[in-house]
Amino acid sequence: MKKYLVIGNPIKHSLSPKLHNYWFEKNNIDANYDRRQINKNEIQEVISEIKENKLNGVNITVPFKSDVIPFLDKLSEESQVTKSVNTIYMRNKKLVGHNTDIKGFELSLKEIQFNLKNKVIFILGAGGVVPSIIYSLQKLGVSKIIVSNRTKQKAENLKKNFSKISIVDWGELPEFDMIINATSLGLSKGDKIGLDLNNISKEKFFYDVIYNPKETNFLRTGKRLGCQVSNGKMMFIYQAFEAFKLWHNIKPAVTEDLKKFLDK
Ligand code: ATR
Repeated sequence: MKKYLVIGNPIKHSLSPKLHNYWFEKNNIDANYDRRQINKNEIQEVISEIKENKLNGVNITVPFKSDVIPFLDKLSEESQVTKSVNTIYMRNKKLVGHNTDIKGFELSLKEIQFNLKNKVIFILGAGGVVPSIIYSLQKLGVSKIIVSNRTKQKAENLKKNFSKISIVDWGELPEFDMIINATSLGLSKGDKIGLDLNNISKEKFFYDVIYNPKETNFLRTGKRLGCQVSNGKMMFIYQAFEAFKLWHNIKPAVTEDLKKFLDK
């Protein structure tokens, strides 16, 4: 039986095992996908298990997506630019790191049918997932990306790899077509972004990377204003879809049943 794993800290809320095991069953694959909470000094051990074929593939989640990089033999271009790896696999005896969050974000937008060409995107946050979102948005041909982060220096640091982005102070609200919450604000029930979004017109799009809870205060505001909204569930599903394709050479089905199953 093949073995797969997601590592992170914390990890108990990860839905990756549920999703991959569902697809194993649907595709008659003899495999198991588990989760493991680790500390940074245990990355090496997990890497050894892949090399020894005890593990056939690993997903990495917060906060280790860049910490794993020094242990790998090769990085995809996407992982190099974003300095982020969420999927590891073996190819020709080499350990390869790839970033499927980028494609996951892109496919989620395709499903929502929001055309980003020449749009202005306002991103809140500068944490782990933001380089992947920026990479994706640039590929999709947006006209401008504006980033705002409480710790401004972290937003400024993004400019090293993405020189065309603009930065505004935390609390400022520039003109935009789409606003993306990529902060962790919203994971707890009472969390508020602290921006006055009440004068936003209804043709704007609100996207929250958070998918649990399903509806953050941020998305609730968007909805109340009559804007189109989306949480991060499809991004989560499609990053897993891309990892599954890499590992098994199969495109797993993304169905309504699957979406409901993940909510249970
Ligand atoms: P990391 O920053 O370690 O990569 P993350 O979960 O990927 O962690 O990112 C958390 C994001 O939420 C960051 O952009 C963080 O802002 P800071 O860089 O200033 O820490 C943002 N964030 C978390 N709590 C916040 C709060 N109370 N107000 C504003 N932004 C917050």
